[in-house]
This record gives sequence, structure tokens and C-alpha cells, in this order.
Amino acid sequence: ATERTLSIIKPDAVAKNAIGEIIARFEKAGLKVVAAKMLHLSEEKAGGFYAEHKERPFFKDLVGFMTSGPVVVQVLQGEDAIAKNRELMGATNPKEAAPGTIRADFAETIDANAVHGSDSPASAEREVAYFFGADEIHSR
Ligand code: CMP
Repeated sequence: ATERTLSIIKPDAVAKNAIGEIIARFEKAGLKVVAAKMLHLSEEKAGGFYAEHKERPFFKDLVGFMTSGPVVVQVLQGEDAIAKNRELMGATNPKEAAPGTIRADFAETIDANAVHGSDSPASAEREVAYFFGADEIHSR
């Protein structure tokens, strides 16, 4: 089915000048960018986004990293967009990411892992709405 998923190009990949190469991978795989913006997240915005991880030991570092520089937030739309995006990204830990995936090619550590992608239809819906209003999504 046609789905929408939230993608974030994280501060490490933005700093590496890899925005274009990462978006090209989405587009070549048949995913369409239907919304996009560049943001420098506040602690509150990043912490709210990752609220499900609040009790995890890595939460503080995660929020610190995600607020360390600008990010590019996008909505990707296409057939099986959620799973397709996760395949393109590779494993959360770049050291475990399959060759040719975004994280294998652009990331060094589990914290600075280049991209985020929604992991389920429920989180995609929440995450898209966290960053974009309906009038900012251009799907026709
Ligand atoms: P992301 O998909 O953005 O979701 C949560 C992020 O927490 C994850 O990518 C990683 O960058 C980061 N993280 C740091 N340590 C861990 C860990 N042990 N397990 C999962 N995620 C982690």
C-alpha cells in the first residue's frame, strides 16, 4: 500500500554535505519527497520527538546530538514507504548496517547514525504530524 513515513537527515550527515546524496537514494528507490524543511531542533522539540526513549541511558546524548546542528526533516511517500526507508537506512548501529545502506556509507556511530526513519505505521503517523501540518504536505 502507499504509505508516508518521516525521515530525518541528522546533524552528522548535514555537516558532511550528504543531504543531496541521501535524498537521491530515496528518490531512486521510488520514494517521493512530499514535504521537507531544515530545522535546528530545540531540546524540547528533540526530547518530545524521542519521548519513548526518555528512560533509556542514551536519551541525554541522543537529545544533545540531535540539537548539535541543523537537520532536514522530510515526509517520504510511496509503496511500502516505511519498510523501504528502513531498508535503505540499514541497521541502527552503522557497524551492523548492510553494505550499500545509508548508515553503512555515511555513519560512524550509533549516536551519529546519519538518518532516522519511522519504524511502524503508528509511529509514522505520529512523527509526520509532529513536524508537519496537513497544509505542508504536498502529495498530489
Ligand atoms: P533513531 O532511529 O533516530 O532512534 C533513536 C536513536 O537513538 C537511534 O536512532 C540512535 O541514533 C540512538 N541510540 C543511541 N544508542 C542507542 C541504543 N543502544 N539503541 C538504540 N538506539 C540508540
